[in-house]
Amino acid sequence: MIPTLRRIGVFTSGGDGPGMNAAIRAVVRTAVYNGIEVVGILSGYEGLIRNEMRPFGARDVSNILQHGGTILRTARSEGFRRPEGRTVAAANLRAAGIDALVAIGGDGTFAGALLLEKEHDVAVIGVPGTIDNDLRGTDLTIGFDTAVNTAVGAIDRIRDTASSHDRLFFVEVMGRNSGLIALHCALATGAEYVMVPERPQSVEELATVLLAGAARRSSSIVIVAEGDEEGGAFAVAKKLKEHTDRFDIRVSVLGHMQRGGSPTVTDRILGARLGIAAVQALMEGRRGSMAGIQNDTVSLTRFEEVIAARKELRPELLHALAVLSI
Ligand code: F6P
Repeated sequence: MIPTLRRIGVFTSGGDGPGMNAAIRAVVRTAVYNGIEVVGILSGYEGLIRNEMRPFGARDVSNILQHGGTILRTARSEGFRRPEGRTVAAANLRAAGIDALVAIGGDGTFAGALLLEKEHDVAVIGVPGTIDNDLRGTDLTIGFDTAVNTAVGAIDRIRDTASSHDRLFFVEVMGRNSGLIALHCALATGAEYVMVPERPQSVEELATVLLAGAARRSSSIVIVAEGDEEGGAFAVAKKLKEHTDRFDIRVSVLGHMQRGGSPTVTDRILGARLGIAAVQALMEGRRGSMAGIQNDTVSLTRFEEVIAARKELRPELLHALAVLSI
C-alpha cells in the first residue's frame, strides 16, 4: 500500500448504467475494509468542480446494489472540458485531502481522468461503466448485460404483435457510437437485420434482404442502433417506404428505458469485482488505468489505450446473424 493513500474519492460520470451502485458499494466497502476513508463525489466531474462531496461509510451503501441508476448521480460536464474547470476540480480534491480517485464511467470519463492526471498529477483508476460495452480492455462494461436483457424483453413483445399483424418493425436501440447493443439484441431476438454505426449499409441493401425474405416469413424485425449513419429507426423506415411499398411498417424507439432497472446478476457481480479491483490497484500504487475483466481475469489497461479506439464488432457475430436469419 502506498503510504499516502488515506482517503479516496469515488464518482460516476457520463451515462448511468445498472450495476454502477454495486460498483460504488464495492469501492466503499473495500476501502473501509482496508482502513481507507471514502468521499463520494456527486454528479461526476460537475460535482468535483462545484465541490459537492460527502464522506461515505460502509452503511451508506447498504441496500443499493439491486437498484439501477447511480446513488452518486451523474452528469456530462461541460465545465470540466475547460482547463479552468479542471484546475478548480484539482484544488477541491487537494482541499478535501483526497489522495486518489475511482472514476466509474465510459471513454469520456477516462479522457477527463487522463487530463486530470497529466495537468494536476491526480491518481485515478477507472471502472468501465456504460451500457454501450464499447470500451477496450474489458470483455463487459457495467450495464451492458442489463440493458440488452431489458431491450430483448421489449423486442420479444414487439415480435408477438409483429407476427400477428404480418408487419415489419424497425426497433431503435441505444448506441450513439456503437452497434454492440444492437447486434446482441438482434442475435438474441432472432431479428432479420441489424443496422450499426460501424458498418456502411445502404437502404438498397436492406431492401434486398427484406424483399428476399418476405416470401419466406410473415413478420420481420430490423434493429437499428441510434447512431446508425442512415439515421435512426424513423429515418430508415421512411427511406425504405420510398423504396418499396411491399411492407406494413411500424417503428418503435426503446430509448432510455434501456438504461434503467434492476441490474442482472452479471452486472452486479461485475460491479463488485471491478470496484474491489479498482481500490486494490490504487493500494498497489497503480494509476492512469482502467480495471477490466478479460477472460475472467482482472486486468489494468492504460487510459490512453482504452480511449484510442472503440471495441470493434466481431465479424463472426455479424455473420451469425446473417446465417441464422435466412
Ligand atoms: O451511456 C451511453 C448512452 O446510453 C448511449 O447509448 C446513448 O447514445 C447516450 O448514452 C445517450 O446519452 P444521453 O442520455 O445523455 O442523451
